[in-house]
Amino acid sequence: MSNKLEVKFSSLKFKNPVIMASGTFGFGKEYQEIYDIEKLGGISCKGLTLHKKEGNKGNRIHETAAGMLNSVGLENPGVEGFIQNELSFFENLDLIKITNVGGSTIEDYIKAIEILSKEKIDMIELNISCPNVKEGGMAFGINDGIARRVIKEARKATKLPLVVKLSPNAEDIIKMAVACEEEGADGISLVNTFKAMAIDIKSRSNIFQNTYAGLSGPAIKPIALRMVHEVCHNVSIPVFGMGGITNYKDALEFIMVGATCIQVGTANFINPRIGLDIIDGIENFMLEENIKSLDEIRGII
Ligand SMILES: Cc1cc2nc3c(=O)[nH]c(=O)nc-3n(C[C@H](O)[C@H](O)[C@H](O)COP(=O)(O)O)c2cc1C
Repeated sequence: MSNKLEVKFSSLKFKNPVIMASGTFGFGKEYQEIYDIEKLGGISCKGLTLHKKEGNKGNRIHETAAGMLNSVGLENPGVEGFIQNELSFFENLDLIKITNVGGSTIEDYIKAIEILSKEKIDMIELNISCPNVKEGGMAFGINDGIARRVIKEARKATKLPLVVKLSPNAEDIIKMAVACEEEGADGISLVNTFKAMAIDIKSRSNIFQNTYAGLSGPAIKPIALRMVHEVCHNVSIPVFGMGGITNYKDALEFIMVGATCIQVGTANFINPRIGLDIIDGIENFMLEENIKSLDEIRGII
């Protein structure tokens, strides 16, 4: 692999722009048994909350015609469980290590970020798509006024590069992205899953106990691409683009609309080696088209 795939994102240098998306790659351990995951640009770990979470009851995943629905409910070992059982493997990986942080109150987010910031990780990805109990069930990620408060506090709580992961269900994705930039975020990740549902016609009931679940995979790609395009044209901080990327061509589309790096989620469940395939595909395309650096094609649309 040549170093022409190197990408600068805020103060960090990724060896290539291909990152595995939160919740679809665990902490990397299982995939390490399949291939050399240090070939990847980075990993965003499974979303961590301050305290351990069991996740949702009932069905958690459901396949759709062009993607999947999930209702995992942020099952995770909690920040301390992560530090005790997962960190020693994760922190020693030679790639950019991103910890994805979820929460239901600002206080929980901040405590989790403060604890994680003392560890050997490279970046915090603040997932503001979780239900916010204190705000009457509204998600932090829906309204930019509410989002500003958590981003401002998160910014104060860490010196690590801070990226905010936006919900595509936001009232206004551009306002949301501008709020991230104004409150001091170093970058933006988008998109998370789209609110969706499925029905079991035999039992005449919802597939998921919570009625709604999150849609990801190829079905969302064109919408995700549009959102990344809109955001990249309205902020000057770098963006991790994602949503339905299943091959190098999809990845290049996101880069051409302005994404600095891309993340791959659902496609890992179809082909666990997808990260490597995408890196190779981008590199071959650059050779064929005589592209010296991704800067030549980033944001050309
Ligand atoms: C099973 C599953 C679990 C996920 N868990 C998280 C999570 O913990 N934190 C988060 O920010 N995003 C989570 N996501 C969202 C993905 O990181 C990604 O934003 C989304 O799936 C869109 O990309 P894709 O179409 O490539 O999967 C999860 C997605 C799936 C499918």
